[in-house]
Amino acid sequence: MAGADPLQREFEFFATVCAEYCPLYAALSARVAEDELVRSMARGGHSQHPPANLLFGAVHYLLLCGVDHPLRAFYATVGGARPADDAWPHFRDFCLAHEHAIRQLVRERLVQTNEVGRCGVLLPALACAFASFDAPLHLIEVGASSGLNLFFDRYHYHYSNGVELGPNSPALVETELRGGIEPPLPPVMPAIAGRLGIDLAPVDVLDDDAMRWIESLIWPDMVERLVLLRAARDIARRSPPRILTGDAMDLVPEAFAAAPRDATPCIFHCHAIYQMDRAWRERFEHLLAGLGRRRDFAHVSLEWLRDDPGPRLHLTLHRRGEAPQRTLLAEAHHHGRWMRWVARAG
Ligand SMILES: C[S@@+](CC[C@H](N)C(=O)[O-])C[C@H]1O[C@@H](n2cnc3c(N)ncnc32)[C@H](O)[C@@H]1O
Repeated sequence: MAGADPLQREFEFFATVCAEYCPLYAALSARVAEDELVRSMARGGHSQHPPANLLFGAVHYLLLCGVDHPLRAFYATVGGARPADDAWPHFRDFCLAHEHAIRQLVRERLVQTNEVGRCGVLLPALACAFASFDAPLHLIEVGASSGLNLFFDRYHYHYSNGVELGPNSPALVETELRGGIEPPLPPVMPAIAGRLGIDLAPVDVLDDDAMRWIESLIWPDMVERLVLLRAARDIARRSPPRILTGDAMDLVPEAFAAAPRDATPCIFHCHAIYQMDRAWRERFEHLLAGLGRRRDFAHVSLEWLRDDPGPRLHLTLHRRGEAPQRTLLAEAHHHGRWMRWVARAG
């Protein structure tokens, strides 16, 4: 039956997701959807990880490694500038020529970005968390990947309403503000008492090959994302973050217990727990509610769950003796390019 392959629909959907910011992937994804052989190379990856990202990541990785092929001329991240509409025959040829390496990468790697642009969306939520308890934040990031978001206070921010904040930094995060409500952008960065990441498969910021895979998952038309990632990576390399390996469900309690008494634990995650199923996420909420009965803390979540049309930013304040207070703060773009604040003050 035509259209029965779910992978075909994945690539058709991916083409629409990319349409606005990555004409190259939009054009290629529409063609991969129709090509059974190339499409098949996206099979075999981790079941919770989007196959389109894995296939395009594998090809991009090989190009970033320096593999020579006419396809390079279409990838802006390696200096290409040819129009996307002409790329398909070269992409297909590249996939056939490097089929073994591509299938191996799809099988072995995970969709692990570290999208520093999301810090522009996280910052007002983290500032609200800081203001709510008035004590330095002890950051615990679930799904930290290489931990770059743990250093959000070392980047410079530029919002489209003209607000600039943060230290002078080669890592410049630009965020467009949409809608009529301005987010509460703080005059100074929230104070940070500590930083700790948790990840099923942490990426060592000092490991060049692992960081190249993270770069590979950046859409090649979006060179500015690559520039930001590399700038943040270089900042993190000066004092690499501590990231525990394992499932957040198992590790959050010990990470939480280790938070200093004079700090506010702040558990946050962005584009991470969407990779777990609904039952896991319910158990995680339950776990956090239990921790909230022990001591006050903030929980910031920026996730794109299947039922939502896009990413949603929530802040939950856990105060001992009170029911957790959960607020939808904003809708956002999945790379953090824009946010629409929806929470009203007070
Ligand atoms: C798509 S990446 C996003 C990374 C980073 N938060 C960002 O926004 O750039 C998702 C990360 O979450 C991690 N992850 C997913 N489920 C997890 C779990 N149950 N416990 C710990 N880490 C998890 C993955 O290993 C991966 O590194």
